[in-house]
Amino acid sequence: MENKKVLVTGGGRGIGRAIALSFAEKGFDVALVARTKSEIELVSDEIVSYGVSAIAKVCDVTSSQEVDRIFAEIEKEMGKIDIFVANAGMLLKNELIHTDDSLWKKIIDTNLNSVFYTTRNIIKGMIERKTGRVIVISSVSGKLGGAYRSAYHAAKHGAIGFVRSIALEVAEYNITVNAICPGFVETKMMADSKEFFVRSDSIDIENELKKDIPMKRFLDPGEIASMSVYLASDSASGITGQAYTISCGAVQV
Ligand SMILES: NC(=O)c1ccc[n+]([C@@H]2O[C@H](COP(=O)([O-])OP(=O)(O)OC[C@H]3O[C@@H](n4cnc5c(N)ncnc54)[C@H](OP(=O)(O)O)[C@@H]3O)[C@@H](O)[C@H]2O)c1
Repeated sequence: MENKKVLVTGGGRGIGRAIALSFAEKGFDVALVARTKSEIELVSDEIVSYGVSAIAKVCDVTSSQEVDRIFAEIEKEMGKIDIFVANAGMLLKNELIHTDDSLWKKIIDTNLNSVFYTTRNIIKGMIERKTGRVIVISSVSGKLGGAYRSAYHAAKHGAIGFVRSIALEVAEYNITVNAICPGFVETKMMADSKEFFVRSDSIDIENELKKDIPMKRFLDPGEIASMSVYLASDSASGITGQAYTISCGAVQV
């Protein structure tokens, strides 16, 4: 893994942070982007403690111009990116009849259009070099419906369709493109949105949610990171166009 470089969007906390640290532990140089400077700088400090290089840049991945500008800076400073992880995302509740255009657009921009802007940018270099790995963090929400969350589910379904299509488009260049579809992972996003998933007024939301999970637990961000590192490894060179569910048994597709 020495001298290999990974770029992780949304690397400031949660799943993205765990992915960034797991790659650092394996000897990758790591670039991080997100909007909150203080968070990516903290993760960057943790990364360098593994003896690898880190770059942390503020970038809003919903702007294609900003993505193109910041990703060019990263490649100039760090060199070509071998592994790209499109992880940045956000979950907001949107009851259809009360969803205005701007709310819909914000959720789709963050969870789907960002995947297009960032992958389009990074994959050009991968095609030139005839090698690369793209990993998109979708969700079990990309495989199931979800009442009052139509925009998030539509975006996460879209991300899987994008992965399956781009995987076919770039297969001849020795580039793999896969999605990971987590169930509930203990992060800020989950803490902020637990109540979106329960229909009752239960005060014990955690236990209410765990009732529907066969293993009766939530995931740790490190469990998503392990799958990312595997998909980037030589052992996974023949895996492309797949969408892997990690859900403690809650979703079997
Ligand atoms: N947690 C779960 O249960 C779960 C389950 C399935 C899928 N997922 C997916 O996993 C991914 C990570 O989620 P998480 O739970 O780790 O969430 P999180 O703790 O809220 O972290 C999200 C990360 O994305 C960044 N981000 C959000 N909007 C961005 C933007 N416009 N531009 C750049 N960065 C942006 C955030 O940083 P800033 O806000 O500073 O920009 C943060 O670093 C998301 O795609 C999410 O949909 C999560």
